[in-house]
Amino acid sequence: MGERGLISRILCPKFGGYLTFGTLESGVVSAPGQPTIKDLLNLYHFRQLGPDTKVFGIIGKPVGHSKSPILYNEAFKSAGFNGVYVHLLVDDIASFLQTYSSTDFAGFSCTIPHKEAAVKCCDEVDPVAKSIGAVNCIIRRPNDAKIFGCNTDYVGAISAIEDGLRGIFIQPGSPLANKLFVIIGAGGAGKALAYGAKEKGARVVIANRTYENLLKLVGADAITLADLNNFRPEDGMILANTTSIGMQPKVDETPISKHALSSYALVFDAVYTPKITRLLREAEESGAKIVTGLEMFIGQAFEQYERFTGLPAPKELFRKVMSKY
Ligand SMILES: NC(=O)c1ccc[n+]([C@@H]2O[C@H](COP(=O)([O-])OP(=O)(O)OC[C@H]3O[C@@H](n4cnc5c(N)ncnc54)[C@H](OP(=O)(O)O)[C@@H]3O)[C@@H](O)[C@H]2O)c1
Repeated sequence: MGERGLISRILCPKFGGYLTFGTLESGVVSAPGQPTIKDLLNLYHFRQLGPDTKVFGIIGKPVGHSKSPILYNEAFKSAGFNGVYVHLLVDDIASFLQTYSSTDFAGFSCTIPHKEAAVKCCDEVDPVAKSIGAVNCIIRRPNDAKIFGCNTDYVGAISAIEDGLRGIFIQPGSPLANKLFVIIGAGGAGKALAYGAKEKGARVVIANRTYENLLKLVGADAITLADLNNFRPEDGMILANTTSIGMQPKVDETPISKHALSSYALVFDAVYTPKITRLLREAEESGAKIVTGLEMFIGQAFEQYERFTGLPAPKELFRKVMSKY
């Protein structure tokens, strides 16, 4: 029942169920968690699911806001790939992975708050994900069901920010080189950005609500959230929010005061629901270039799709699907 039970309704044809319940209208249900017939048919492609269908999903809490099922299911269908991608509301990732341990569950994306715990749960972890301390993509090996964790967040975010900066700075190599890169948040996404920005030669400063969590990070200067509003300006500064502040439904929240934003050449927000957060709106009003979390989302999804399916990512299709949001 409810959000946790949704997968048993969607995956019914894979595991031999005779029928499932779908509602005619969203919200008009006879029991909690029933999907609409429209979603069963058009989003999860229910009629194509069968015993050989590989299951993928996004592990998170909360997770219902994620657009990943829309993106991957559309791409699977267009490539003729026998897979389905679902939301997985998970409290404890270790016990989830122990329970869903068969090769039917072929891969997972991992989001808030499980990316760091995921590192310890994998049988093997990519060295970059290990240095970041966060896994956002888990692949199960079909031969022995062992799981491999990697991080696609940093490539997605850093390439979107570099694309944004190329319109502002003309310099050889990465436009991030020698820039001051200020990151709010020290969770999975924050660490991924810190790693990527340092790789590109930026100087990194991180601000976090829980100051102690910053002390575990090496190679970046740490400041408190309050310090952010009085940061000494310098040319070409970049700001990245990697907390969930400003995410739906709390769209009125922002991690930094508007007056402090005028110091930044470019502002990036990892939050992508809504696409334009209060932070991005105020940054644009303050004259900064903005890069949305949607651009990071699309970039990190390219690599996950290729790892999940072994097929090239349909980049144009991804952009088209996400342009509706
Ligand atoms: N666009 C994309 O493709 C993409 C990819 C990854 C993540 N994201 C987004 O990035 C955000 C973070 O994800 P994550 O996986 O890095 O999560 P995470 O590992 O759980 O880290 C969350 C971070 O946010 C901070 N935080 C949370 N609530 C806060 C609040 N009310 N005030 C101040 N700080 C707060 C936490 O600080 P403490 O250390 O004090 O707890 C921590 O630094 C989420 O909104 C997620 O949707 C987007």
